[in-house]
Amino acid sequence: MIRFDVVMAGGGMIVRDQILPSLYQLRRLGLIGEITVCARHEETLRALSGDEQIREAFPAQTFRQYVGAYDSMIAHLPKRNLVVVALPDHLHFDAVMTALKADQHVLAVKPLVLYTAEAAEIEKEASRRALLVAVEYHKRFDDRSLMARRKYRAGDFGEFKLGAAVLMEKWNYRHSNFQNWFTTDNSDAFTYIGCHYIDLVHFITGLLPRSVSVYGIEDALPNGNTGYLWTDARVIWNNGACLNVQNSLSFPDEAPGTNTQGLTMYFSNGERGGYLRHDDQYRGVQYVTSTYSEPSPDYFQYVPAESGGLVPVGYGYRSIEAIVRACARVEQARDRAAALREIDAEGILATPANSRYNEQVIEAGRRSILSGGAIVRIESAT
Ligand SMILES: NC(=O)c1ccc[n+]([C@@H]2O[C@H](COP(=O)([O-])OP(=O)(O)OC[C@H]3O[C@@H](n4cnc5c(N)ncnc54)[C@H](O)[C@@H]3O)[C@@H](O)[C@H]2O)c1
Repeated sequence: MIRFDVVMAGGGMIVRDQILPSLYQLRRLGLIGEITVCARHEETLRALSGDEQIREAFPAQTFRQYVGAYDSMIAHLPKRNLVVVALPDHLHFDAVMTALKADQHVLAVKPLVLYTAEAAEIEKEASRRALLVAVEYHKRFDDRSLMARRKYRAGDFGEFKLGAAVLMEKWNYRHSNFQNWFTTDNSDAFTYIGCHYIDLVHFITGLLPRSVSVYGIEDALPNGNTGYLWTDARVIWNNGACLNVQNSLSFPDEAPGTNTQGLTMYFSNGERGGYLRHDDQYRGVQYVTSTYSEPSPDYFQYVPAESGGLVPVGYGYRSIEAIVRACARVEQARDRAAALREIDAEGILATPANSRYNEQVIEAGRRSILSGGAIVRIESAT
């Protein structure tokens, strides 16, 4: 069995909540070896290594801590292992290219990069070296997304016509490290979280976006920086369908659940309508402990295992596992390039070659937001 050593660039929220515990679980299964996490500040690594949930679930596991630039750690990693890029959105490109040039497979958190040309460069470099770059769009591994993809592609719903998606993160995001990078020049609510539902609508339907209009509202962050903390987007698809996407960092901290989110789609087969509604936040669980809450059993949870201890479950874990197993599949293939082409064509994992529409929408969305919501065409969605 192949076992990958991992260098992780970034040690923030997504690493704590999903990536590190998933890698620890994969280490239990023998798929992952040494894990090194690189961060600029010692306190990031201290907080991560001291996280109580992770320690309870994996009492025997630790990671190597490195304070400083990730480049030197990547350079020390033997070739054809794995680099995880979990940095703020605008820093992904340099980190992914550094990893590829050091002959490493890459797991990148979404969005891969902010510009189409950068995605094309990544695709070329990865293909030249027969390496996998997988973009971690974990909603794809929510069974409801896979069910919808299967049913849509079987023609059961009819053709997508109109849809609405919402993803509002909690107000308290503004007080986190976000305020240092989630500024008008780097990102916006649509780029950060709207991309999930763009990716999902393509994942379900196979349609491609043709034009984008994003209206953004600037708002102050606690440290005085300004960000587009509220966005309303309209995306037109290549069959003429229209998707409205609203995003913000505004969901009240007092509200149950970690955010509010969901997708509604309307379809037609010419003779009857079709309908799909995913409530992606309320998953049917209500708790009252010291407060009322609505935990999601579907994204990422630690549950007791029959062997004793805790194991991570949910589509957050499955997504990381699928990417690591795909890296192993490439390594074990007699023809690595053919294995990579197969992964692109299957379309279950998002790769630079099969999800370019994400960068196209983000890039067009950025141009639109900066011009007050003008319609920006995507000329040749691939
Ligand atoms: N649902 C998802 O797929 C999902 C969810 C959350 C975050 N993400 C993505 O993960 C990435 C990181 O998000 P996060 O929530 O972990 O953010 P975070 O702010 O909690 O962590 C960012 C990490 O990058 C490091 N860093 C390096 N250079 C930095 C810089 N110049 N400014 C600020 N931080 C810097 C920080 O020290 C920290 O370890 C983003 O690209 C985000 O879009 C994806």
